[in-house]
Amino acid sequence: MIDSLRELGYLISAFLFILGIKYMGNPVTSIRGNIISAAGMFIAIISTFLQGKANFNNLWFIILAILSGSFVGTYLARVVKFTEMPQMVSFFNGMGGLTIVLISIIEFLHRKTVDKIFTISAGFSGIIGAISFVGSMLAMAKLWGILEKSYRSNFIRVFNSILLILIVLFFGILIFEGSYGWLILVIILGGILGFSGVFPIGGADMPVIIALLNAFTGLAASIAGFAINNNAMIVSGTLVGASGTILTILMAKAMNRSVLGVILGGFGGVDTTSQTQKGNIQEITVQDAAILLSYSRKVIIVPGYGMAVSGAQNEVHELEELLEKKGVEVKYAIHPVAGRMPGHMNVLLAEAKVDYSKLYEMEYINPEFKNTDVVLVVGANDIVNPAAKNNPNSPLYGMPILEVDQAQNIIFMKRSLRPGFAGVENELFFNPKTRMLFGDAKETLKKLINEIKNI
Ligand code: TAP
Repeated sequence: MIDSLRELGYLISAFLFILGIKYMGNPVTSIRGNIISAAGMFIAIISTFLQGKANFNNLWFIILAILSGSFVGTYLARVVKFTEMPQMVSFFNGMGGLTIVLISIIEFLHRKTVDKIFTISAGFSGIIGAISFVGSMLAMAKLWGILEKSYRSNFIRVFNSILLILIVLFFGILIFEGSYGWLILVIILGGILGFSGVFPIGGADMPVIIALLNAFTGLAASIAGFAINNNAMIVSGTLVGASGTILTILMAKAMNRSVLGVILGGFGGVDTTSQTQKGNIQEITVQDAAILLSYSRKVIIVPGYGMAVSGAQNEVHELEELLEKKGVEVKYAIHPVAGRMPGHMNVLLAEAKVDYSKLYEMEYINPEFKNTDVVLVVGANDIVNPAAKNNPNSPLYGMPILEVDQAQNIIFMKRSLRPGFAGVENELFFNPKTRMLFGDAKETLKKLINEIKNI
């Protein structure tokens, strides 16, 4: 009876996870989706307690762990700045990987006999969990700027290939011998591969690798679910693994990368030679920018990471409404990797209540730039950098960009000439059609709005 109840609980939680993901697909219903998924997880946890008393040796430790985890999670979610969300997502992903490593080790230790199927699932989930844990922690450090961005070298490629061969070899021995020592060894090697695999990656490849690590954690969780015969883990792990894989493919496609190319380091390299000035820059005053925008027929706004840093989305929306009242057509151009996480700009603009129908994806908006009077680039950089098209040595090379250089005028809102995430200088700053409007995006937009109101 109690077993059937537990399985029913898992079934309900699986249903809620799927429903939650469906609702999360749209910014309007995404909060509902989040609550439904959280309810699914709550039911899964309660159902796990329906094991019978004999299976709980350390009930109070478990409750203490759940309470302290909930406290830390709630606290972090409340204090984290929106711009640090990608780091937090990487952290949570890494914690998922670590949990799966612990499950595979502890389950292995506790079993009196281990059959081949169990050894394969415990070993496989342990290795992938370790890659995901170490890789996600490193990705988090890279997003925080603690580590330099990309280090391509043939040595690392050879090292990774040898490591992969060793892991496959030792995994084979683990399956054959079924001993604990081999499990620990392959898990340690998995962790090293997580480090050496993510270490060389940077620049435009980061979004792909973050999505891939997410898929790995899901895969590891579902295999661990097989090992410990837990249906909720199998379903939720499969959902994360599948959505992570779809996201990885979409990201790679959007960046014109192949997933294998990213992993093996086939793309990018650090372009240190291009960090030279390519001419003079021209500045524009807030007053002149206000006049230019007010008398335009068509304006396209390109939001980027800087808009998130300065929290300027509400001002961007206010500017859009103001210009529309003056008869200007305003659209938004959304690059698939603008910001630091998938959908970053969509989420921010939805929060500011920007009409979703005004947001245009890259392939739809690119043909429109040539008929646009002014492109207003709000804290974006890499996603409009022509080096992605022109410079084969650039870490951005191959990434499709928003072709803002086609427009009649380009206004760049940023604080300095500093490069963006990929660390590459942007030659568009020196384009004769470009005017730099230096300053914090939010502050500058407030001034711009005031000026336009007076025109
Ligand atoms: P970036 O290329 O990173 O450029 C952002 C620009 O914003 C910077 O050059 C910075 O210049 C400016 N900025 C920062 N704070 C500002 C403020 N308060 N006010 C005004 N401007 C400010 O951003 P992007 O164009 O959105 O490109 C995204 C990059 O991140 C890509 O390289 C992408 O591959 C990478 N990435 C994306 C993801 C995902 S999934 N989206 C994940 C990881 C990495 P100043 O310092 O001069 O102000």
